[in-house]
Amino acid sequence: MFKNKNILIGITGGIAAYKIIELIRLYKKNNANIKVIMTENATNFVTPLTVRTLSNNPVYIKQFETDNLFPEHISLGNWADIFVIAPASANTISKIANGICDNLLTSIVCAFSKPIIIAPAMNCEMWNNPIIKENIKKLEKLNYNILYPEAGFLACGTSGVGRLCPIEQICEKTYEKLKYKNKKLSNKKIIITAGGTRENIDPVRFLGNYSSGKMGVALADAAYDSGAEVVLINTFNHKSNYKTITVSSAIEMQAALAKEKQNADCIIMAAAVADFRAKKIQKHKIKKESTDDNFTIELTRNPDILTELCKTKSNNQIIVGFCAESENLLENAKSKIQKKQCDYIVANDVSRKDIGFASDENEVYIIDKNLKIMKLDKTSKKIIAEKILEFIYGEN
Ligand code: PMT
Repeated sequence: MFKNKNILIGITGGIAAYKIIELIRLYKKNNANIKVIMTENATNFVTPLTVRTLSNNPVYIKQFETDNLFPEHISLGNWADIFVIAPASANTISKIANGICDNLLTSIVCAFSKPIIIAPAMNCEMWNNPIIKENIKKLEKLNYNILYPEAGFLACGTSGVGRLCPIEQICEKTYEKLKYKNKKLSNKKIIITAGGTRENIDPVRFLGNYSSGKMGVALADAAYDSGAEVVLINTFNHKSNYKTITVSSAIEMQAALAKEKQNADCIIMAAAVADFRAKKIQKHKIKKESTDDNFTIELTRNPDILTELCKTKSNNQIIVGFCAESENLLENAKSKIQKKQCDYIVANDVSRKDIGFASDENEVYIIDKNLKIMKLDKTSKKIIAEKILEFIYGEN
């Protein structure tokens, strides 16, 4: 079930911590590699020795007690395919929801871009506290996977909602989150472009656009999390576990694609590529004094990278374009897919402030060659990215 999968468990201070011993055994029985972080409070409920013996690995507690050259919050995060926090106390939930990183566990969460499962367990009054409820809502909105606690008799002597969900449910959720990665995109090479190109005018000025690269990075992360070999060609520097190439102009982006595209199974053009560049880039800064009030820059057309890719693509290659419009979105998107001849086009309305350029969320329409349209309602770019990949590879 979990062969070759690395599961990082975070245990926080709560009586349900003893149940995680069984969870570790269940994961191990299903061939997972397990590493465990415990908060200082968690060590009052179960001993690190028990956890170490069952997980067959050292237990990580303190943030700064290590011989490792790389900070643990980065290296453990890199190692893990998924992070399961159980039981998650009210304290830890609230810290995560507010970006507080005052121990190893919360620091790892803050630097972790793969799936996180949170299984809260606490006294029912704490669970009903509006602040905790608000924090849970916030985390859910940010795409954390919350496994809600159950009603029942609680260790504090009362009855109510607050009991850790069954460990089998945590195990199933872990499998569900890793399943897509297990099955779908291993053995696929996916190239994604991100960001807005910059077309230099002189050494200090350029023609650009509002793209932040978030949509492209979300796609690259989702493809990587699904097991694909990923190459991200981005106009911004971006650190990740997959290959990234930083480019600036459309011509540089086209050259990087030309080098990478041969054995690619899929190319997704999420970048906002300038249609024009300055015909001549000035060697020195253009001086105000050297221009008059109606200064003109002569532009020349950039290559249409997407159209060229579609013309030269190999049989099994899937090419996906994006379409950024401020009016007549679907009409323009349909004519774009027909003109550019890509396999899919993902259309978004860039006149809206809440989606599109630089936003953390998007709302898109995926259109295929038969002009079949599927709408993905507004949600995080992370989920939009996962759904785009599911759509493409569900059909192929
Ligand atoms: O980066 P973010 O801030 O997260 O914003 C995301 C986004 C709005 C940039 C993204 O969702 C998006 O819409 N990307 C495409 C932007 C764009 O250039 O759209 P277009 O309709 O002008 O171009 C259509 C397609 O042709 C695009 O896939 C584009 O990459 C490609 N193109 C365009 C011009 C050109 N010379 N060569 C190209 O390959």
